[in-house]
Amino acid sequence: MHDPLRPTADEATAAWADRVRANADQVARFREVPDGQDFYGPVAGAFRDDPRRTGDGVLDTVLSLVEPGETWLDIGAGGGRYTLPIALKAGEVTAVDPSSGMLDVMRGGMAEHGIENVRIINDRWPMAEPPTADVAFIANVGMDIEAFGAFLDAMEASARRLCVCVMGYQQATVLFDRLWPEVHGEARATLPALPDFLVLLLARGRVFEVRLSTRPAMSYESKDDLRTFLRRQTWVNPGGEKDQKLERLIDEVVTERDGRFALSWEPVTVGIVSWEPRPPSR
Ligand SMILES: C[S@@+](CC[C@H](N)C(=O)[O-])C[C@H]1O[C@@H](n2cnc3c(N)ncnc32)[C@H](O)[C@@H]1O
Repeated sequence: MHDPLRPTADEATAAWADRVRANADQVARFREVPDGQDFYGPVAGAFRDDPRRTGDGVLDTVLSLVEPGETWLDIGAGGGRYTLPIALKAGEVTAVDPSSGMLDVMRGGMAEHGIENVRIINDRWPMAEPPTADVAFIANVGMDIEAFGAFLDAMEASARRLCVCVMGYQQATVLFDRLWPEVHGEARATLPALPDFLVLLLARGRVFEVRLSTRPAMSYESKDDLRTFLRRQTWVNPGGEKDQKLERLIDEVVTERDGRFALSWEPVTVGIVSWEPRPPSR
């Protein structure tokens, strides 16, 4: 009999897939523009960060899990916000990502900071011939992946010591989602987030450690940069009627601080989840 406190792995995996599908189906109903070949390409620059930065609580927690000399596998590594700092402490990092634009940002960061122990693989996970490492890591990845059960199976199979996941307590697009009713006349179908991920792990028979941290709200160099994100997350046609509604909302809700622009300045709660890639013995 179904027990809401103890969903089976199949139930939790199916519920995850349902959320992702509902979110994508809604885009299919409302989109006015197609996605480019490289969905992350146009915004890849926003995923650049200084690998030697201090005062980043999420990064510090991730780095506390790195044992010097070991190997890490960063799946969905993007522009290397975590890959490059991890590489400064680990022996080697393998970074997998299907976005050429993101990987260009990563290569730029490696050259700028003299980091050579990152092996880049331009591919989508799960892979036919997956690399292995001591630790398999994902940050801000998976919430929009329908077949996430298979993704996690492959991630665990590639990890010798530990799996680590960084995920926001609320869905990553929460601030963009709030604009959907005004722009499209319908509440956004939301993607899974940290609480759902923990349920999924428990349903898969994994126990875990969760460390909570906060990161500053996402902010942008210019209103134009923020507009690019907003258009991309509402799929409106630039210059069209819905884009004009969006523009009015931007005027209402976007604020500036110290030369940067944001929809909100509230810090964001983030979980850093770690677990052993095999079920614990009972
Ligand atoms: C929100 S970004 C996060 C990037 C990076 N981990 C970070 O936190 O800065 C998500 C990344 O996951 C990548 N991605 C999406 N689906 C993927 C998949 N199936 N396999 C590998 N990477 C994927 C995207 O190309 C993108 O670079």
